[in-house]
Amino acid sequence: MQNVRHLDPEARNLFLEARAACERPLSALPEAEQTIFLLRLERWFQNLVDGLRPVYGDRPEFGSFVSTLVRDMAEGFAARPDALRELDLERDLTPDWFQRESMLGYVFYVDRFAGTLEGVEEHLDYLTELDVTYVHLMSVLHARDGENDGGYAVQDYREVQPELGDRDDLQHVCTVLREQGISVCVDVVLNHSSDQHEWARRARAGETRYLDYFHTFEDRTAPDAFEESLNEVFPDLAPGNFTFVPDLGRWVWTTFHPYQWDLNWSNENVFLEINRIMLDLANLGVEVFRLDAVAFMWKRLGSNCQNQPEVHDLLQALRACSKIATPSVAHKAEAIVGPDDLVHYLGTGRRYGKVSNIAYHNSLMVHYWSSLASRDVRLMTHALREFPRTPASIAWATYIRCHDDIGWAIDDDDAAAVGLSGDAHRTFLTDYYAGHFEGSHARGAVFAENPRTGDRRVSGSAASLAGLELALEEDDDLLTALSIERLLLGHALMFSFGGVPLVYMGDELGMTNAYEYTRDPEIADDNRYLHRPRMDWARAERRRLEETVEGRLFRSLHGLVRARRRTPHLHAATSTDVLDSGNSRVFAFVRPHPLGNLVALFNFADRPQTLSTELLARRGLEQPYDQITQRYLDVQSGQISLSPYGRLWLI
Ligand code: GLC
Repeated sequence: MQNVRHLDPEARNLFLEARAACERPLSALPEAEQTIFLLRLERWFQNLVDGLRPVYGDRPEFGSFVSTLVRDMAEGFAARPDALRELDLERDLTPDWFQRESMLGYVFYVDRFAGTLEGVEEHLDYLTELDVTYVHLMSVLHARDGENDGGYAVQDYREVQPELGDRDDLQHVCTVLREQGISVCVDVVLNHSSDQHEWARRARAGETRYLDYFHTFEDRTAPDAFEESLNEVFPDLAPGNFTFVPDLGRWVWTTFHPYQWDLNWSNENVFLEINRIMLDLANLGVEVFRLDAVAFMWKRLGSNCQNQPEVHDLLQALRACSKIATPSVAHKAEAIVGPDDLVHYLGTGRRYGKVSNIAYHNSLMVHYWSSLASRDVRLMTHALREFPRTPASIAWATYIRCHDDIGWAIDDDDAAAVGLSGDAHRTFLTDYYAGHFEGSHARGAVFAENPRTGDRRVSGSAASLAGLELALEEDDDLLTALSIERLLLGHALMFSFGGVPLVYMGDELGMTNAYEYTRDPEIADDNRYLHRPRMDWARAERRRLEETVEGRLFRSLHGLVRARRRTPHLHAATSTDVLDSGNSRVFAFVRPHPLGNLVALFNFADRPQTLSTELLARRGLEQPYDQITQRYLDVQSGQISLSPYGRLWLI
């Protein structure tokens, strides 16, 4: 029945073996459903094998591993609720669903936004008011008790954090949101589980099967050898990459905190387990997986153990699994790495377009804050111009703030190309945003200072970093207005750059730093909680009052959302080509679309700026029309003017 000739000979044999293995689990389904599964299996099978082979292909039991994996997928598919199977079909027809200009993401900790999962449903109006189409629910899965890195130390991937509700509640919230056109994204931490996960407990109890789920060492020989080329993620909170675990009498690889145990992905059982977990969550209605800390998944002596090719192979294989069994699900890679490493998460070379659907555009975020501080876009323009090309089938996750700190991922060569020293600029940025630099209005804090390398990162909410906290404290109307404009500049930038824009909870209201975390001993040493506030619903009410900060921000931000929705040029499949605007304060790019070019302009200075209309005329915009304000620009003088922090989306 199936034409498997496009598979290579080994894959063809594996396919026939695997197809036999899924006969039983599929047998309960109507024939049409079985056919759909098998067609998808065939369609994605080569991608799957190409991902698995470099990692596990030389094992004698490779064939039976692939068959087990496919049988698991068939079981997952057979258990999939009808409504989700229908969504799968719909998305077979609209594979660009996450690339559309109507996409808008909103990111929050469930407890901090709404108390519980049920609470999220109660605040559905708030999400629909903003035209949100995607929510990233953070810290949903059952994390270890006590310290848990904000939920990123999972004890049970199949259970919901008890204070938030249970699996039924998760399924319910996914269903209710889906019916409103909102897709739910949940984290699956791929690099590590917690020391309280059943796998870790059983390893401690002496079961060798589970010891092999982790990287453990009997003495310091190997850890010392690895340490020579490793970095430290939390040099002050959790120095080093290995932890001695007395119950095991061994050293365990712990890239992040001592209670986060790195998973051993060279063990194919880990792959099988994670695939089953993803099937299970997808069947509850999760539509996007945020694959956490993926850069670290593969270890290689002599390297920094990040971005190894095996990671991209594993991610390609995991994505093929979703495409086969739960195809409405998209994968978002969380790899906060430099541009040349980042593009591989979207797929390059033989993996082109096959690795993840979405990846965070960390550089855009970093350069937004960098240009704001320096009031100069030359570094940003150079760095983003040099950015490697990406496949047309993917989307960036664009953002200006998230729950993590900001690391100044500025490339030394990029800095040198515009006459800056990378080190000096990074030092300036930390000083600026920690509020130590003369003339800075920012109120952030230094995070993860590393005395060995001199690296310092920054915490702080978008509003506080943009000057709003100080402005409100000093009751300074001008500074308040400028801070609001800075925030809107950032949102206009990330709404138009190409991808799924992610609004971080509270930024739409200008919520400033939350200092109360220092009173909670479990988190007091982690100043990332400065920008992990609790939603202030009384404050949110003020969005209805025109002249309040909340009202001004919320209304304008929503205006940008609507402008985005009426601008087809902003679909993520349209390329984004960064331009030299000819003015060192104005960042520019063009989105070349069959409807004509869209040129976006962003003034990073607190003074008005002008540009020659040449820039637009050369791109066919003789009578530029701004999609944000829905007005024609007056170009009689041959000049375009931009207000302080002004932004234009011109067609
Ligand atoms: C990701 C998360 C971060 C966490 C880390 C370890 O980077 O965003 O909050 O600390 O992974 O899981």
